[in-house]
Amino acid sequence: MKSKTAIALFTMFGFASGASYSACAQREAYDQPYRPQVHFSPERNWTNDPNGLVFYHGEYHLFFQYNPFGDTWGHMSWGHAVSRDLLHWRQLPLAIPEENGVMIFTGSVVIDHSDTSGLCKPAKECLVAVYTGDSNTPDGHRETQNLAYSLDDGRNWKKYERNPVLDLHLADFRDPSVSWDEERHDWIMAISLPKEHKVSFYHSKDLKQWVHASDFGPAGDTNGVWECPDLLRVPLDGKQGSLWALMVGLNPGAPQGGSGEQYFLGEFDGTSFKVSKERGAHGWTNYGKDDYCSISFNGMPAGGQPVLIGWMNNWDYASKLQTSPWRGQMSLARKLSLVRDQSGLALAQDPVIDPLRKTAVPLQLEALSCSKGSVATLSPPYELDFEEVSPSEKSFGVRIYYDDQHWTEIGFDKAKGEFYIDRTRSGETSIPGFDVKTTAPVAPGRPYNCKLIIDRSSVEAFAQNGTIAMTNLVYPPTTSNRIVFFPSGPETAKVHAHLWKLASIWQGGDREHGANSR
Ligand code: FRU
Repeated sequence: MKSKTAIALFTMFGFASGASYSACAQREAYDQPYRPQVHFSPERNWTNDPNGLVFYHGEYHLFFQYNPFGDTWGHMSWGHAVSRDLLHWRQLPLAIPEENGVMIFTGSVVIDHSDTSGLCKPAKECLVAVYTGDSNTPDGHRETQNLAYSLDDGRNWKKYERNPVLDLHLADFRDPSVSWDEERHDWIMAISLPKEHKVSFYHSKDLKQWVHASDFGPAGDTNGVWECPDLLRVPLDGKQGSLWALMVGLNPGAPQGGSGEQYFLGEFDGTSFKVSKERGAHGWTNYGKDDYCSISFNGMPAGGQPVLIGWMNNWDYASKLQTSPWRGQMSLARKLSLVRDQSGLALAQDPVIDPLRKTAVPLQLEALSCSKGSVATLSPPYELDFEEVSPSEKSFGVRIYYDDQHWTEIGFDKAKGEFYIDRTRSGETSIPGFDVKTTAPVAPGRPYNCKLIIDRSSVEAFAQNGTIAMTNLVYPPTTSNRIVFFPSGPETAKVHAHLWKLASIWQGGDREHGANSR
């Protein structure tokens, strides 16, 4: 009862941040030492998975698992933010609150273009959210599927009075990923049976009545529960055609420890999903520790690339992160495509970042031939791209957030055939599970290149043309701003690099120390 009243007040007075801020107040609210400058984080409180990603009437909507009352997991509700470019987000009042002991878990938002649900009246179309309601009932813990709808571009939501729409009387049955099947004129839902390591598919004509179609799994990695499935069609890069991708969160048991996300590539015939037999048809959406439950946007223009956003965190330590007054942030949006080459199939990710490139920072490349030469000093956020331009047996890479005692190392280990991010000396590493080097196997035939997006508390790496995505949180001392390539000596001349200072999405909240100033 207490929490219900508080949520009502919260919504009524629009206490969620960002809605009516002056640029100055916004800058201050988002200027703490570890506050992400190019990634979305709520102004305050806890967030986990992104939910209900949808592009509608020119706006990208990011709903997210949110606790309106504190910075730990609980009272799960849907927070809300909107953007016109997938970079600059404005947080809006709470969208769908926990109510009557039913928490609002992860789910989707679809555009019901022809009012198939009958919920849109008097409008002809509306947004419909399909989410898991999580509650403790006299018969035990229950997870059911429910609807809420909005007739005003996602600003106000009403829960469907006949909820739930799908109830198997199960304790674990969650995270519906719903989309419109253009070919068969049908709604399709992929939903997780977490402990059975299965994704179930359901059909519906009206979003209210759901008919079971098939189950996928167990398959691939089954070391932990399966959560947050997402089914989407991904185009082949530069070629005709596409394949279906089924992405599934795994927690714990991911290769780097804790939570992670695997993908399967194959065919979906409207009823069941079959994994391709090609090499690379099973892989990891991210080889870092900190990208979980990424899902794709509904409502994207036909023929365009799908776009994903994930929760930049790991259930290993999410509640222990020392950030305040917020806890949790989202990954950058990534455009997806498929690569098919001599190494097989792979999902390729390209972060949306170019509009934030502010100034190209010259790199003192001659310093590379001196031992410990730093090529620039720059405070985050920035983008650093580098690639090997003539083949060599030598490992190479870069140390960032560098101050002689601390650094984060990112590179290619040629002897081991690995790409890696080593954050064991990165600064704050005392949180259990944080002190790690994450690795991914390299495909020898693919280029040795890497795009790095460096924020105040994260490194997002896209190596080998984005076929390796690796996202890691990092908590460096704020003065560790040097950039140092290795190895030093003539070998490094074989590496080309570009550096850009990025504009803060919170408008000037970055602390510019200036390039090469030390
Ligand atoms: C994944 C998850 C989902 C669930 C949500 C609850 O991180 O456990 O399965 O819907 O978080 O917050």
